[in-house]
Amino acid sequence: MKKAVWAALIGIVAFTGVARADDFPSHPITIIVPFAAGGPSDAMARVLAERMRVTLGQAVVTENVTGAGGSIGVGRAVHSPPDGYTVSFGHLGTHVANGAVYKLNYDLVADLEPVVLLPSNPMIVVSKNAVPATSLKDLLAWLKSRPSPATAGTAGAGSGSHIAGVYFENVTGIKLQYVPYRGTGPALNDLIAGQIDVIVDQTSNSINQVRAGTIRAYAISDDKRLSSAPEIPTAEEAGLKGFNMTLWSGMWVPKGTPKEIVTKLNAAAVEALNDPAVKKQLENQGLEMTPQDQLTPEALGARQKAEIAKWWPIIKAANIKVD
Ligand code: MLT
Repeated sequence: MKKAVWAALIGIVAFTGVARADDFPSHPITIIVPFAAGGPSDAMARVLAERMRVTLGQAVVTENVTGAGGSIGVGRAVHSPPDGYTVSFGHLGTHVANGAVYKLNYDLVADLEPVVLLPSNPMIVVSKNAVPATSLKDLLAWLKSRPSPATAGTAGAGSGSHIAGVYFENVTGIKLQYVPYRGTGPALNDLIAGQIDVIVDQTSNSINQVRAGTIRAYAISDDKRLSSAPEIPTAEEAGLKGFNMTLWSGMWVPKGTPKEIVTKLNAAAVEALNDPAVKKQLENQGLEMTPQDQLTPEALGARQKAEIAKWWPIIKAANIKVD
């Protein structure tokens, strides 16, 4: 008798699990953005959420859960029910670097299911307009000549801007004094206001302010110029070799999310990325669209693992500590 009751219960759970996948989504989906509103992660997530809503037929909202280099927001998503209604938005910082910087209470690979690899962008070295430099060479000379390190805004330890700053320090031999924010949106506001000296920022965050002349750009961390901002030289063209970094983003769901739900979320994100209006908006921010053959969950999983293998030794060797 007892056995029969258990069998019936298991049957009900299995049935409702399948039904949930079939009906998905039957209520709004939340994308957790682990950085402040107004920054590059927030901007990309909002553009995609708006278009994914059309495909999924349900509201897709973004929630900014900030702090600790994005690791708090990712943790919130990891520990949510694996039902597809909570999506973790992140990037090379949150879903790769943070595993080497923090003692996380989750595993970035084992506890998450990849959904889609999102557009990438190079980092850009930018300063407040009051810095007396007009080229990367001038900037390096100014940074070296200072009695105390210049201040560099970041989105916290382990964020993209922090890892890029440390990489820049390693390549140039220059020391920076990091100022952590809850995202590079607020850091950029302080750069414009002259409160901090530099940011090694995601291009998509800074580019509009560079175009508006409110901050100054020196070089990008790529070996080819951006088609959306061809006037900005590559680091190598500007005299700095070995400063190459591409910051890609992605979406994940908690481990255990049914495959059919991952497939539906992936399809909605791919449809959004292939929408000409979305593409135009993202490309205009200096973002490079993900190649079509890389738009699978498997491609994101492979990229994340390859980047962990590449960056963790660099981060550990640089002895990056929590702020
Ligand atoms: C943000 O949205 O604030 C950024 O992705 C932060 C960063 O990692 O630099």
